[in-house]
Amino acid sequence: MEHSSDIIILGIESSCDDTSAAVIKNGYLLSNIIASQKVHEAYGGVVPELASRAHQQNIVPVVDQAIKQAGIKREEISAVAFTRGPGLLGSLLVGTSFAKGFALSSGIPMIDINHLQGHVLAHFIKEDGVEFNAPKFPHLCLLVSGGNSQIILVKDHLEMEVIGQTIDDAAGEAFDKCAKVLGMPYPGGPLIDKLAKEGNPNAFEFSKPRIKDLDYSFSGLKTSFLYFLRDQLKENENFIEENQPDLCASLQKTIIDILMAKLIKAAKQTGIKEITVAGGVSANSGLQNALRQEANKRRWNMYIPKFAFTMDNAAMIAITGYYKYQKGEFIGQDAIPFARMNINE
Ligand code: KG4
Repeated sequence: MEHSSDIIILGIESSCDDTSAAVIKNGYLLSNIIASQKVHEAYGGVVPELASRAHQQNIVPVVDQAIKQAGIKREEISAVAFTRGPGLLGSLLVGTSFAKGFALSSGIPMIDINHLQGHVLAHFIKEDGVEFNAPKFPHLCLLVSGGNSQIILVKDHLEMEVIGQTIDDAAGEAFDKCAKVLGMPYPGGPLIDKLAKEGNPNAFEFSKPRIKDLDYSFSGLKTSFLYFLRDQLKENENFIEENQPDLCASLQKTIIDILMAKLIKAAKQTGIKEITVAGGVSANSGLQNALRQEANKRRWNMYIPKFAFTMDNAAMIAITGYYKYQKGEFIGQDAIPFARMNINE
């Protein structure tokens, strides 16, 4: 039964290569449909033009399924929340245009969502039958994905400040680019994670950056990994095949050490012990272990999202929409997407 006070948000996410739609009612998730695009695997990375075409094909069936699975009627939806950026412009345009058409034809308001805020607020999605344990404010969020590596000071649901970020590649890019050098398909992050479980993390040592404050850098690691392999392959052309698990474990350890060092520094500097992690790389088992270990040692309250909420998904867009809806933060039909956006935009 719908009550007039119910807030039902349809979320739309299309910033990169996943087309997703979700329905959230009064903060509780009713559905979260994600269509991933396989077309990019052959190219070793996301091809923007192919991504936007696939979004166009996927968006109607994905939204349809999300509404059906939620068990609601279209007329019950209070507002449509869509990712405005950051992301690939062509991909964002598909979600933005769809949201405009849906809002106009349903006579409901639109809410523009910052994708980065969505990742941070993934921890606030409630699910029936699942204990709700959200981080308190202020907290620190380590946001690590294919496009971002940031430490965010989260003061309230919609009040955030980046206190550290990468000056070049993101952590996910480091995983994916090094995986490519090892001859793995895109995205290589999950495969490195899997192989690393069989390897020795101390077998090889790769250079770590010396970057000031709370910032990150990953491009040097990628280069040092590439040169190391080039030298080894001169001596032994089977070096990669013979050492794959050790290479993955050592590379993964280096990336985790880099991420953890600055997170620990940020926690010390701010005195904050509420720590969350978000974004695709937060699915990494080695990173999750390191976070749990440090949390034990330093008495942090650690929040790790469930797998479906680590990757790009519309549930996180819908929950952010839920908070913006309550503040009356809507946008008109003249909304345009932005490829680049800071966390507070
Ligand atoms: O948040 P996300 O789905 O979207 C983008 O920002 O693109 O993150 C995708 C990134 C990719 O770089 C992928 O390799 C990485 O997250 N990733 C992982 C793991 N699962 C996904 N990296 C390491 N270990 C994993 N288990």
